[in-house]
Amino acid sequence: MLSLESITAGYTDENIITDLSLRVEEGEIVTVIGPNGCGKSTLMKSIFGLTRMRGGRILFLGQEITGLRPDQLVKRGLSYVPQEKNVFAALTVRENLEIGAIALKGGIDERISLVLELFPALADRMDQRAGTLSGGEQKMLAVGRAMIINPSMLLLDEPSAALSPKIMGQLFSEIQEINERGVTILMVEQNARRALAISDRGYVMEMGKNRLEGPARSLLDNPEVCRLYLGRK
Ligand SMILES: Nc1ncnc2c1ncn2[C@@H]1O[C@H](COP(=O)(O)OP(=O)(O)O)[C@@H](O)[C@H]1O
Ligand SMILES: [Mg+2]
Repeated sequence: MLSLESITAGYTDENIITDLSLRVEEGEIVTVIGPNGCGKSTLMKSIFGLTRMRGGRILFLGQEITGLRPDQLVKRGLSYVPQEKNVFAALTVRENLEIGAIALKGGIDERISLVLELFPALADRMDQRAGTLSGGEQKMLAVGRAMIINPSMLLLDEPSAALSPKIMGQLFSEIQEINERGVTILMVEQNARRALAISDRGYVMEMGKNRLEGPARSLLDNPEVCRLYLGRK
């Protein structure tokens, strides 16, 4: 469904990602882990057309999307939740969802109902400003907004960051439910163990490059991955 072929990208002259390849098959949940600053967010931004691509190409649903703008990617069914600043704090929950639906032609109410089905906690808060929601609710709103366009694939950058363990568990089950409804997922996570536990496959990045890849199960059992990224069980 998504294929990155030897991509090299950055923001200025420096390359942050070098020669990185990755693929996601339809229906999968794939997680990318790696230390802080290794380029995980840059990888997500590169897929979504937000960096300077210097080499390689990106294919989505069999077509080349290298260099396309976010609005063009959204029209093709790719949706992205950034790591930070992913809701408009001064706008209400409803307005945040409506903004997400700007690219949609009709059917907005239906899509909002579906988001509220996934995240019922938002239903009572539709007229509340997003900035006054709890961290967990803001995250749900950010993911909900990305779901408004009826995407076939979601890019999630550290969805569980700064959430309590309980809310984190809830969010991961919601991600699984979104996947079961037919949305393919590529996510970046610091909570490597929890994320790999719901993933089909995983990639380990180091300094802008692929270090390891494999079935999520085998990464969870890999002693080196355990030592470096998973901590003690
Ligand atoms: N907008 C930006 N402009 C220039 N450099 C950036 C920008 N965003 C991130 N970087 C740099 O890119 C590198 C990788 O950052 P990032 O992709 O955010 O890593 P990660 O998400 O793995 O923590 C870091 O050295 C960071 O300083
Ligand atoms: Mg990041």
